[in-house]
Amino acid sequence: MTMNYSSEISGFYKLSINERLALIKEKVGLTDEETSILKNFGYFKPEQMDILIENVIASYQLPYAIACNFMVNGRDYLIPMVLEEPSVVAAASNVARMTRKWGGFQSEKIPQVMIGQVQIVDIKNTEESVKEIEAHKEELITLANKQDPILIKLGGGVEDIEVRPLDTIKGPMIIVHLLVNVLDAMGANAVNTMAEAVAPYLEELTEGKVYLRIISNLATHRMAKCKATFDKEMLGGEEVVEGIINAYAFAKADTYRASTHNKGIMNGIIALTLATGNDTRAIEAGAHTYAALNGYSPLSTFKVDVNGNLVGELELPLALGIIGGLTKTHPLARISLKILGIDNAEELAQVAVALGLCQNVAALRALASEGIQAGHMRLHKRKEQKKS
Ligand code: MEV
Repeated sequence: MTMNYSSEISGFYKLSINERLALIKEKVGLTDEETSILKNFGYFKPEQMDILIENVIASYQLPYAIACNFMVNGRDYLIPMVLEEPSVVAAASNVARMTRKWGGFQSEKIPQVMIGQVQIVDIKNTEESVKEIEAHKEELITLANKQDPILIKLGGGVEDIEVRPLDTIKGPMIIVHLLVNVLDAMGANAVNTMAEAVAPYLEELTEGKVYLRIISNLATHRMAKCKATFDKEMLGGEEVVEGIINAYAFAKADTYRASTHNKGIMNGIIALTLATGNDTRAIEAGAHTYAALNGYSPLSTFKVDVNGNLVGELELPLALGIIGGLTKTHPLARISLKILGIDNAEELAQVAVALGLCQNVAALRALASEGIQAGHMRLHKRKEQKKS
């Protein structure tokens, strides 16, 4: 039975968790049993959750699983994954094994550089202003770097500044990009602070007005790229390889399919993003915008090698951190890094891109052979057997 209630509550955020819960219980008619489920914060203390976001009444749990058999750049990894979808982890573990004979996944080096955008409007002379900004790059860099002495000490900071005149529906603007090496952080905090710090000086230089000062999630200076060879026989033979190449051709030619193709990639990447306490929305935004840069396309590419094996490559921006925010405070995020055996952000992204490629092949393999429902049904059967 649904209840009619007013959603207008003033000062909800000022209440304690218990008071908020009691109010919601009364408003929507939660039972005692439902309330006690909400009261179970698991390994978190309610106070910890209460300071992460506003209006907290509970903590939400999902399965935490381990994908096996991964070798990336010659090292073995057990990969923690948080997600609700059956078959995904099993398929990734299964297909990861098919790369081992051919050296596993090769992930490239990833510069940890993020873009901070500053939007300048009402500029009198765009050309002159661009020159002015260019001429004062060094001062701007120094000013930005002053905001984060620790980052600078560790070798990070602003590496360059790009100046981009932009025609918009509101007239000409200049967009300044701060290219910031954020080292092991996702980077939003450092970059946003720096973008805000240089804004007044940019207004002075251009006699314009600054509005937005914010990180871009299209992290094209933080590209993760990997490659792997998937064994033909283990995949299920020539016909399955052919089916995967056909699936890839389909995705390249059709946006409706490309969307789902890329969703399969993100099944892996987002599960690891969550397991390590990173920002899933930032990763999704970056991935799909990158896929759309020249007309929405599959993020991966496939070909067949001389032995008939499948060779896959995946490239996407990956702004994953291991310090800051939830990555340090969420107990499972810390344990995830321990399971992975990782102590730097670059390596985390190198593993994530490998997992994305593997997940993609796992989905295409299932689709090109038995279909994905068979795997789901096997799991369903296991559940039924466990029940009886
Ligand atoms: C389901 O979560 C993911 C797939 O749809 C991906 C794909 O179609 O490639 C199976």
